[in-house]
Amino acid sequence: MTPRVLLASCRELPESDGDDTSLPEALAEVGVDASWAAWDDPDGGFARADLVVVRSTWDYVDRRDEFLAWCAAVPALANPASVIEWNTDKSYLVDLAATGLDVVPTELVHPGRSPVWPVGPFVVKPAVGAGSRGAARFDGDLDAARAHLDALTGVAVLQPYQRAVDTEGETALVFLGGVYSHAFVKGPMLSESAVVDGSGLFVEERLRPVDPARDLRRAAEDAMDAAAGVLGLHRSDLLYARVDLVRGGEGEPLLLELELAEPSLGFRQTDGTARQRFASAVRGALARR
Ligand SMILES: Nc1ncnc2c1ncn2[C@@H]1O[C@H](COP(=O)(O)OP(=O)(O)O)[C@@H](O)[C@H]1O
Ligand SMILES: [Mg+2]
Repeated sequence: MTPRVLLASCRELPESDGDDTSLPEALAEVGVDASWAAWDDPDGGFARADLVVVRSTWDYVDRRDEFLAWCAAVPALANPASVIEWNTDKSYLVDLAATGLDVVPTELVHPGRSPVWPVGPFVVKPAVGAGSRGAARFDGDLDAARAHLDALTGVAVLQPYQRAVDTEGETALVFLGGVYSHAFVKGPMLSESAVVDGSGLFVEERLRPVDPARDLRRAAEDAMDAAAGVLGLHRSDLLYARVDLVRGGEGEPLLLELELAEPSLGFRQTDGTARQRFASAVRGALARR
């Protein structure tokens, strides 16, 4: 029988932001019947699907509890609900740093608490956030930073601003079924030229494909192993992962984000073989069930 896969999106962007548009076709090529459904559509048919793949569900940010309850109720979800719960709160960066992984220095600020402000430019952003929304850069104006912190209702993340983002950008390395697939570079998102998409769900990204430097490849592999260790999973249990790296002050690779919930995978920035690898990874996930 032809397996049925649902790609979970949101109502504002029912078939993703365009990056994933070719996935149903790539899946059809390997005998998988795939279609889109908004995660909060009660008629989505998620309980009957052989696999539900979380993709462009970006509106969960303002109702994460509801989203996590939905994840837990879907019988066959990729990535697994426990992974999504861990990964949709940037506190996971602290867990990864505790394993010895090189992570952008991250302080969690609980509501009402006063942080130790970093010296030099820094970033304040929500622990539960996506698409750069709610992320802001400050340089010395602590009153403005305090006001921004107070406006973020939940836990906030405070990090020194990594200046290499302005020159080299951020490198995103994509893993499919736990195996490295491709990479792309993303320009700075907190600069004055940043533009929010018409949907209001994400800041428009300036992306280009890249063959990443060896130290970035290595750091991304380390991040994958560290995450699998923390989660108690095998890497291949992760249908997709995106490791976002920046260079620190000494040029060393630092983890900015490990995206296991709903990252753009940059299919438009790479050749058609990445879609084939995605389709193959879906077949692998179906075979293991
Ligand atoms: N510590 C930082 N140093 C430099 N740029 C940052 C930093 N934190 C965030 N940014 C910028 O803000 C963007 C969004 O932040 P990020 O942590 O990736 O959250 P999300 O993508 O989940 O919204 C990044 O792509 C980057 O351009
Ligand atoms: Mg990001």
